[in-house]
Amino acid sequence: MTSARLLPADDPAAIREAAAALAQGRLVAFPTETVYGLGADAANGRAVARVYAAKGRPSFNPLIAHLANVEAAEREGMFNAAAKTLAARFWPGPLTLVVPRSPGCRVADLATAGLDSVALRVPDSSAAHALLSAFGGPVVAPSANRSGHVSATTAAHVADDLGDSVAIILDGGATKIGIESTVVDCTGNRARILRPGAVTRAQIATALGVETLGTGGLGANPGASAAHTDAVVAPGMLASHYAPAASVRLGVREVRPGEALLNFAGAAVPGAQEAAAVFDLSPTASLEEAAANLFTALRALDRPGVTAIAAVAIPGEGLGEAINDRLRRAAAPRDKN
Ligand code: TXA
Ligand code: MG
Repeated sequence: MTSARLLPADDPAAIREAAAALAQGRLVAFPTETVYGLGADAANGRAVARVYAAKGRPSFNPLIAHLANVEAAEREGMFNAAAKTLAARFWPGPLTLVVPRSPGCRVADLATAGLDSVALRVPDSSAAHALLSAFGGPVVAPSANRSGHVSATTAAHVADDLGDSVAIILDGGATKIGIESTVVDCTGNRARILRPGAVTRAQIATALGVETLGTGGLGANPGASAAHTDAVVAPGMLASHYAPAASVRLGVREVRPGEALLNFAGAAVPGAQEAAAVFDLSPTASLEEAAANLFTALRALDRPGVTAIAAVAIPGEGLGEAINDRLRRAAAPRDKN
């Protein structure tokens, strides 16, 4: 791929070009008030797969979907009272809310790593706002650095790390905050901080009308607590999030009676004719397409009556590493919970 074009973030023509690139499934790096984001059309699974590939992320840690305003965010997720309070108090700003996906949520399964929740953020930067408004849909954006590097806070950092894989870098100078947003889980009765960030624990506790948030954990704040602390949760590490109800067999060479087939590249698998269901992750052997389809495929094959999902071997290079990582988690022996 050719190297990225560096365009001024305050130029309306550059914003229009960047929005058009997103609509074509290409990657656009843009400044937010926290760090630069590596943006892609959240509704386009293949574009989302490109984000993981560009970062060299070893696993599909779920991504934050960015929206232009609160109303747009409320179309993607279901906000309880705490989420509404926090959105009103901190958006636009460096806060990410994890909420249940709405029935009409457009964010691709790959971006939420197959979870029923979605992480939403309305960033406070004029360039980000202009881009999100011009594009008109949710944009996923992890920090615009290669996996393992520190987050990118200037356009030059982005160009160094990702110059070959992004179409456009919108240069808005150094970001104001430089550390990522605070991630708050609002899927349950009590809000929890999943990742500390630019909005402090105390600010969140004050907004929610609780005395403390994070000093004693569950039960430390009896009665009063609309929020509690918790250990930092990395959902990408929790096997059960990825496990379908049916068991999963890996590297299969034949489909057994009652099994569904998870295929790749149209492999000829004995027993496929009798399979309960078949999903080919990528008939053309594209790992990008396979990554985009993975969580959707596992859901589609996980039907009542299917005894197991039989998965053929998937190449291990590039995005294949993450695909195999997720398949291994899906196949791992299950705990009771
Ligand atoms: O400031 C930021 O948040 C930057 C800018 C670009 O917006 N973005 C960012 O994204 O830091 P990323 O992908 O590096 O971090 C996303 C965090 C991860 O810790 C991930 O586990 C969590 O959000 N996350 C995303 N979706 C989630 C979900 N459905 N449930 C729980 N955690 C989720
Ligand atoms: Mg990051």
